[in-house]
Amino acid sequence: MKIDLVFSANEIKKEEVKDKTVVVIDTLRATSTIITALARGCRKVIPVAEIEEAKKLSRKFKRECLLAGERQGVKVEGFDLGNSPCDYTTERVADKVIILTTTNGTKCFEPLVETEEILVASLLNIEQVSADLKSKKEVIFCCAGVAGQFALDDFITAGKVLSELVMEVEVTLSDRALVAYQTYLQNKNNLAAILKRSQSGRNLISIGKEDDIDYIVREQESYLPYYKDGEIK
Ligand code: MLT
Repeated sequence: MKIDLVFSANEIKKEEVKDKTVVVIDTLRATSTIITALARGCRKVIPVAEIEEAKKLSRKFKRECLLAGERQGVKVEGFDLGNSPCDYTTERVADKVIILTTTNGTKCFEPLVETEEILVASLLNIEQVSADLKSKKEVIFCCAGVAGQFALDDFITAGKVLSELVMEVEVTLSDRALVAYQTYLQNKNNLAAILKRSQSGRNLISIGKEDDIDYIVREQESYLPYYKDGEIK
């Protein structure tokens, strides 16, 4: 299996990813929120890039949908939910359609419209992701990054998936994927500490959301979401 990695959605070249398996990662916190929402019984998550687009779409679904998302980490004014996975309880989200817009994570999906197979990953569902990837030929980890730049939380998550894969299948890693794997190995015994020192981790701590980091590092959800035709299920 050949494995490559991009640092942010800006680096995705539609033509190059079309026939490959793409794994979208925004561990702090968009993909962790998506996994949690689906594991708690929401019907689907529709990721959208802009706030206005989210509001417009919500009129179509009326009462069955929840508007969710953040800017600078904080819940968008007037929305039902922010982007804290811990707020996505069964009581809140079961049977709902969630329209989600976040600063970086939900922007990853737009350039992937022509890609056949897209998995949604975070530290919350490593086992499911690695089990699914075992049979693939070419995989690209698409890290959401922050404002088009490298983000450590996504990189380390890719490294953790790789640490499972290398034990089970023959892999050829690009240099970026190899460094992700090594970075994970160096930090595997204290993931919470390294994530809290990262830019995204520090941002969350500064707005009082350290609990989200602890939850994402500690828990495992047995759910593997796929993105297809504009929806994540
Ligand atoms: C993002 O998409 O950039 C993240 O969801 C940011 C956050 O969790 O606050």
